[in-house]
Amino acid sequence: MSKLQLTVNGKHYEVDVPESRMLADVLRRDLGLTGTKIGCEEAECGLCTVLVNGTPVTSCVYPAFRAQGAEIVTIEGLSEEAPAAETPAEADPMLELKLHPLQKAFIEHGAVQCGFCTPGVIMTAKALLDENPDPDEDTIKAALKDTLCRCTGYNSIINAVKSAASELRGEGPIPWGGVDAQLPPLKVVGHSVPPQEVVDKVTGRAKYADDYVFEGMLYGRTLRAAYPHARIKRIDTRKAKALAGVHAVLTHEDIPGDNIHGLIYDDWPVLAAEKVRYMGDPVAIVAADTEEIAAQALELIEVDYEPLPVVTGPIEAAQPDAPIVHEEWKDGNLLKHIKVRHGDIERGFAEADVIVEREYHTPTTDHAFMEPECSIGVPAGYDDEHPKLTVYVGSQIPYEDRRQIARALGLPEEQVRVRGTLIGGGFGGKEDIAGQIHAALLAQATGRPVKMRYTRQESLLFHPKRHATVIRVKMGAKRDGTLTAAQAELYGDGGAYASLSDKVMTRATTHATGPYAVPNAKVDCYVMYTNNPPSGAFRGFGVTQSAFAVEQTMDILAQELGIDPVDFRRNNALRVGATTVTGQVLRESVGLLDTLRLVARDMNQGDPENFLWGWREGNKAYGWGFACAYKNTGLGGGAPDRATAEVEVFPNGTAEVRISSADMGQGLSVVLAQVTAEELGLPAERVHVLLSDTDLTPDGGPTTASRQTYMSGNAARHAADAVRRALATVAAEHLGVAPDALVFAEGQVRANGSAVPLGQVVEWTRAQGQEAKVRYTYDAPKTQPLGSGGDMHFAFSFSTQAAFVEVDLETGEVRVLRMIAASDVGRAINPKMLEGQVEGGIVMGMGNCLTEEFIVEDGVPWSTFLARYRVPHITQTPKITSHIVESPTAEGPFGAKGVGELTSINPSPAIANAVYHATGVRVYRIPIDQDALLRAIKTGKKEVHATWHDVK
Ligand code: FES
Repeated sequence: MSKLQLTVNGKHYEVDVPESRMLADVLRRDLGLTGTKIGCEEAECGLCTVLVNGTPVTSCVYPAFRAQGAEIVTIEGLSEEAPAAETPAEADPMLELKLHPLQKAFIEHGAVQCGFCTPGVIMTAKALLDENPDPDEDTIKAALKDTLCRCTGYNSIINAVKSAASELRGEGPIPWGGVDAQLPPLKVVGHSVPPQEVVDKVTGRAKYADDYVFEGMLYGRTLRAAYPHARIKRIDTRKAKALAGVHAVLTHEDIPGDNIHGLIYDDWPVLAAEKVRYMGDPVAIVAADTEEIAAQALELIEVDYEPLPVVTGPIEAAQPDAPIVHEEWKDGNLLKHIKVRHGDIERGFAEADVIVEREYHTPTTDHAFMEPECSIGVPAGYDDEHPKLTVYVGSQIPYEDRRQIARALGLPEEQVRVRGTLIGGGFGGKEDIAGQIHAALLAQATGRPVKMRYTRQESLLFHPKRHATVIRVKMGAKRDGTLTAAQAELYGDGGAYASLSDKVMTRATTHATGPYAVPNAKVDCYVMYTNNPPSGAFRGFGVTQSAFAVEQTMDILAQELGIDPVDFRRNNALRVGATTVTGQVLRESVGLLDTLRLVARDMNQGDPENFLWGWREGNKAYGWGFACAYKNTGLGGGAPDRATAEVEVFPNGTAEVRISSADMGQGLSVVLAQVTAEELGLPAERVHVLLSDTDLTPDGGPTTASRQTYMSGNAARHAADAVRRALATVAAEHLGVAPDALVFAEGQVRANGSAVPLGQVVEWTRAQGQEAKVRYTYDAPKTQPLGSGGDMHFAFSFSTQAAFVEVDLETGEVRVLRMIAASDVGRAINPKMLEGQVEGGIVMGMGNCLTEEFIVEDGVPWSTFLARYRVPHITQTPKITSHIVESPTAEGPFGAKGVGELTSINPSPAIANAVYHATGVRVYRIPIDQDALLRAIKTGKKEVHATWHDVK
């Protein structure tokens, strides 16, 4: 230990810390300044950026003693305390702090979603503005090029930095540009209200799981498999247990309940017993005084393995002599065969004048949410606040976590409490159990709180990914441009455990013929167990992969027919009255043609006759690409879909919505506040939203399948409606009017020219011995299973996008310069948050097409560092134009349907189509290999297939 002296945010500190400690750890651990986030510990993501003597540094790799005597500014030092409010009504969180112009601008421009990157991005931007008060866009991009954001797509960040610079120069902030929604806004719905937690996120006060600290807390670590496929012969933990500072070492023998978990199939051991099936499999867990001691203990655990042959991919897994991943499974390595049958496929192809058939490959990709997984288990009875076993976690499915924790610990579910923290991004990657069960086991075993925080490297190694796929598509059409048949065969890499493969690949299968009316279709999907990381939910839920295949095939077919690709899509687009390939007749809310029209108009600037799809200028080629997509809202397929919300109104005229549904940054909390406020006649800021506490909030179901706006939104809306009706009955008695003569508006209940505060009505209600509180369970319209020919889903969202790319003919580099998007979301509850979803989805989709691949070789991941996984940076972000199409659905809250996944689906095929139009080279594999593309361009070849060598 040595003495370290620092001035942080103007306050002097003197601490004794080890010389090896990094600055981020000193700030977070020793000074409790948890606004500085840790995302990678590789100096790759920039989230931990703070200013040391005015210079931005990545504090996770900056030795603390290099800052000896330095002046440090963190996100907590940016805002000032404002003078106390004079009246309670003025006690708005926005007013309690005097925010820095950057903090205000990030809120104004919607540059905050999950908020986990926000402190690092703001501090980096501050360093820029301190030096350059008037940076142009390229300068902003250059300054922020090493600071990642996975949610926003960066455009809002650029706009926020420009706005703050303008304000700091004394020219006033630049207002948010708005989006062109179609429906007139209501009183609260349709307005861009800021989320309740946004001020905490820009000031560093927001608490994510790793920001919680409990008295006496221990630190957990996990020993992972040494082989991708091996039998476990022996585990010896004696040396690890003997290490000073170690409090528990647990293996499969120490699990009091069932050693199994899983979301749909129970196939994933809590701790590996007989076998390991991928490199992320947990074999033993340790709790120790420090993370460092826990890591040392892992080294002392002896495990003898018998390595087994590795199943390296879905095609290999399907071979008759393939090694078997799960001997207990009934179908060898076949996890699921999913089928779509519609019409008569033979007749459909016989009627076609032109038929094309192609094969496509999509990679395994990682969510790369900025907050690595973290869970904290607190044992039952540890203190007054924790009478029962409690797990703090940022999870997408709190009640499902509770079920799985209770099962492994052999406890009734009521004896476990899951308390949701803020979530630093999820995108589907926080649906499966991570460290929740392990933290709970260690807490119970040691009698002390245990924090299980994954490093970025462990996060990458462990958690389920997007399925790699091989997709063969065959489509036929008549000369007049009418589709007659579509056939597809998909192989999906399910990885070592089922996770949500069944559902994800079902969605890939049912959407494999695109958002088109195809009279005859046949699709077969084979999801295979392999020894790769498990595959599960990831924004787009399988449709990302099939859209890449079908939307390129549509372009190829259009070309063969001599028809414009936009016209070809328009001819066949789903519309009201059309039937999907699963036999569902679409009866309402199909805005696809509107989205297509808006994007085509912007792309060809209203002059289709003179529009060029591609051209060359010097050593650059330019091209436009077009793609349509659709995505279901909700679970569908016959699965009961339900959400329960509770709404309570208080005498002070505020309300609270309670529901266990996750806000990962997509804006659910503000959506719930807005629909509730609309029903109660309150301003949105007077509605508090309490999310994800299994003791205090009812079950909203999983945050998946773009379902929360619709499902939890409806549950909150109906609960608020019921409270309002109950209050109206009471108010009517007191005011001597009929209940339906009352108007709830602006926090008042009005009738016949008089008004009483809403809180007064709550008082009257309480005086009658009742509470102004209603719990409402919303059941979605029934859906039917695949194969039934009925309604498989209760709503679909639709999207069209165009990409404009530049290809460097000397290097093969592809740059996306512009994206135009139109998204039919039913109703924009909060246009600014919606714009954020569109822009973030587009940039995530762009990464899927151009840079991202989680590389696994013979079952051994190579992409185990963030630096090896190429998330798009701000320098790559294109100019994005976003149109909102509002084709309301009758049952959705105020007409809304899902959007979260939709916009990440089109970019890959749109960009691939654009590359074709620019270069004449068709790319059948993503991410687009720059070298392979260059080789094709240079040799005059027309196709890039699976690998660098596979250029035809
Ligand atoms: Fe930037 Fe989530 S808001 S990572």
